[in-house]
Parts: sequence; structure tokens; C-alpha cells
Amino acid sequence: MEIKDHNTLFLFFVSLFFTSQGESVFTVKGFHLIGYELESVASTDWIGCIQKCSGNPDCISYNFNTRGSFCQLNNRGIDHFSYIANEILTQDQDYVFQQLKTPKDHQLARPRSSQCDCNCGSDRHCYVKPPPGIGDTKDIPATACKVILDKRNNAKNGPYYLATFPMTTYVYCHMTELPGCGGGGWTLVMKIDGTKPTFRYNSSFWTSTSRTLNIKDGKDMSEKETLLPTYWGIKIVKQICLGMKYDGLTRWVSLNYTGNSSLYDAMKTHHTTNLNVSQWKKLLPNSSLETICTKQGFNVHDSNSGSPLSRARIGILGYSKSDCGRSFTHSRLGFGTAGSSGGMVDANSCGNEARQHGDNGDRSITAFGYIFVK
Ligand SMILES: *[C@@H]1O[C@H](CO)[C@@H](O)[C@H](O)[C@H]1NC(C)=O
Ligand SMILES: *[C@@H]1O[C@H](CO)[C@@H](O)[C@H](O)[C@H]1NC(C)=O
Ligand SMILES: *[C@@H]1O[C@H](CO)[C@@H](O)[C@H](O)[C@H]1NC(C)=O
Ligand SMILES: *[C@@H]1O[C@H](CO)[C@@H](O)[C@H](O)[C@H]1NC(C)=O
Ligand SMILES: *[C@@H]1O[C@H](CO)[C@@H](O)[C@H](O)[C@H]1NC(C)=O
Repeated sequence: MEIKDHNTLFLFFVSLFFTSQGESVFTVKGFHLIGYELESVASTDWIGCIQKCSGNPDCISYNFNTRGSFCQLNNRGIDHFSYIANEILTQDQDYVFQQLKTPKDHQLARPRSSQCDCNCGSDRHCYVKPPPGIGDTKDIPATACKVILDKRNNAKNGPYYLATFPMTTYVYCHMTELPGCGGGGWTLVMKIDGTKPTFRYNSSFWTSTSRTLNIKDGKDMSEKETLLPTYWGIKIVKQICLGMKYDGLTRWVSLNYTGNSSLYDAMKTHHTTNLNVSQWKKLLPNSSLETICTKQGFNVHDSNSGSPLSRARIGILGYSKSDCGRSFTHSRLGFGTAGSSGGMVDANSCGNEARQHGDNGDRSITAFGYIFVK
């Protein structure tokens, strides 16, 4: 008899003998085989379990749980000389694994790492396919994407269930870093198509806590407009990540927000932010602004706001004279924008408009905008 010289063998195989039919029988204490359950037998002793497996032609091996006195019959087994037994069986001190019959080739269990599905044993343990985590189902929604990432540090980018009022919403979470904004846990709030009037400055979408738009398009980064309940439903926003997609590439910049409230609340009054002009302009290559004087932040508009001057829900306005707010503005870069003075395109709701004194000439660039919060 040939036995591979491998230490784990001697730890594993507590006993090995051959039956009169030539079957090799062996027992491994403190291990069990997961994913091949044929039948589960409750309230049994060890002998009862052996009888069940012997009487079932498909049963090759079984796991006996010594604490719970139940067992699982398996329709697979392992090559008893296999030196990868520890990659197939799973360690658990409450179990004894015993193989009663010699498996044919198609009855050999695969290493754990190559299994993609499993049955749960009668102890409801399932290691191969983990139980749903927070945000995975409607029944266990999270309050924000960051909460999910804090609990599940390998969570992937994609949609999760968030508890938003009045209903749970399936929302895209960006769990990995957004270059320019930093580490993950970003919750999608809004996607804006700059060529469309939907989210222009005066749209009631910005000032309502009951309107949403195309929630189903908020599951991913596709270029389809959406407004999600996370706009008012994430109550405390600390950081905002803004993205502009242009010519196939999205550039990002982040803003710190100290208002201790939702993004919707931020729209009630003007809040100043403190990026510099070049940080804003990085959002859109080839953009242009009047830079003699600038105003930036949330709800930026001119004191003469009924006029056709630049406005932005989130963004920066440029002026050609140093008395910001008293002279005219003919340039803007941001999200939820409007204004036609100097010939700017009023309908450009996300992107850049610059006329007259722009530092990079006259520009009219529409972008596809993303707004995330954390
Ligand atoms: C917003 O402003 C545009 C013109 O700038 C106007 O046509 C539109 O009716 C306004 N919408 C609302 C909701 O006030
Ligand atoms: C924003 O806040 C983060 C973390 O608190 C800090 O590291 C970063 O420097 C801040 N950025 C700005 C522009 O204030
Ligand atoms: C932020 O708001 C929450 C609830 O609205 C409040 O409990 C908390 O004290 C506030 N924190 C700060 C720093 O204002
Ligand atoms: C703008 O801010 C960034 C980041 O703080 C800095 O690296 C850059 O030098 C600043 N640019 C100007 C023109 O001040
Ligand atoms: C910048 O925009 C101007 C005007 O639209 C255009 O002529 C120029 O090619 C653009 N430059 C780059 C580098 O995209």
C-alpha cells in the first residue's frame, strides 16, 4: 500500500480499514464535507447514521455532528489517499466525517475553492455561499453605502438595498475609490444629463422631498438620468463626490460639507465651498471661466437672480470684474446650472459655459454628471 509522505495525512486519518467488499472505510475527526448533501438525518446517534448511509445506494460518506446528534449523508467522497483532503473537507470540531464507500471518479468531491454553490446542512451552516449581508435583500437594508462597506470590507460596486423613506430603494453604491474623491462607500444620489432640462437650476426636483426620477436607473452608472430618495434620505452628508463624464472619461472632485444635513437641506440656502478654480476646471477638460472673481458652493447665484445671469445648484460662477456679484457673470461650471447672459446656453444644465472673458475662451460644453454622497 502506497501512502504519500504528507504530514496532514497522519493528522487526518484517524482510522482506515477495508470491509469484506473491498471498500475502504475511514474517519476524519473535526472535519466535514460541505456541498454534497443527499439527505439530512435529525436526532440520530452515530450508529443510526451509519445504517442510513449504508442503506442508501447514493450515499458515499456522511458528516456526523457530535453536539447536535444529527448527520448529513453525502453523495460524494474523497480519494482516501488524497493529499488535498484538507482543501476539500472543512474544519469544524463538532463534526466527524466518515467515508463508507469508495467513490467512483464522478463521485469525487471538488476542492472547496472550486465549488460555486452548496446545500445548507441541517445545522443551517453554509460556508460556500455566505448568507446575505446587510444591503443584499429588502429585509436587511442599510442606511447608506458607507455603512455596508464598514461591515463588509470586500463589498463590490453595485446596487444595494437602502432604507429610504417611504420605501426601500435599490441604489448603486461605489465601494471602491473614486479617483479625486477618495475611498469607497459612496451612495448615488443623482445623474444629470447636461443636454436635458430636467435638472436645470429652477427645476423643482432640487427643492422637493417627494419627487424622484427613474429610480430603476439608479442601480448603475449608465448614462440615464435619475433622482433617488437618497437626495433627502441620507440625513447626514459629510462629503460629496461630483463627477463629469465627457468624451468617455469621468473626472471627479470631492467637496466637504459641514452642514450636518441632507443634500436636499443643503439646497435651502447658499453654502460656500473652498476648491480653487483649477480643481473645478479639472472636472471638464478644456473648460473656461472668468477668474477675476469667483463664487462657488451650493445654490450659487447672483444677487440680481431674476436675471439671466449664471446660476448653479453646485458649482462655480466666474465674474469679469473684481466686485463679484455686482458685475455680470458670463461663465459657470457645475451641476443644475442656468443663465443666458452674454450668449451662454441657458439650457446647459450640467457642464461649462463661458463667454466674453473666459480664461480659455468661449466655451459651451455639456457633460453627464454624477453626484454621490458619503
Ligand atoms: C425655468 O426657466 C426656464 C427659462 O430659463 C423656463 O422656460 C422654465 O419654465 C422654468 N421652469 C420652472 C419650473 O420655473
Ligand atoms: C475634507 O475632509 C477630509 C477628511 O475629513 C480631509 O482629509 C480633507 O483634507 C478635506 N478636504 C478639504 C478640501 O477640506
Ligand atoms: C448633526 O445632526 C444630528 C441629528 O440631526 C445631531 O444629533 C448632531 O448633534 C449634529 N452634529 C453636529 C456636529 O452638529
Ligand atoms: C488648487 O488646489 C490644489 C489642491 O489643494 C493644489 O494642488 C493646486 O496647486 C491649487 N492650484 C492653484 C492654482 O492654486
Ligand atoms: C477646446 O475647445 C475648442 C472650442 O470648442 C476646440 O476648438 C479645441 O479643439 C478644444 N481643445 C481640446 C484640447 O479639446
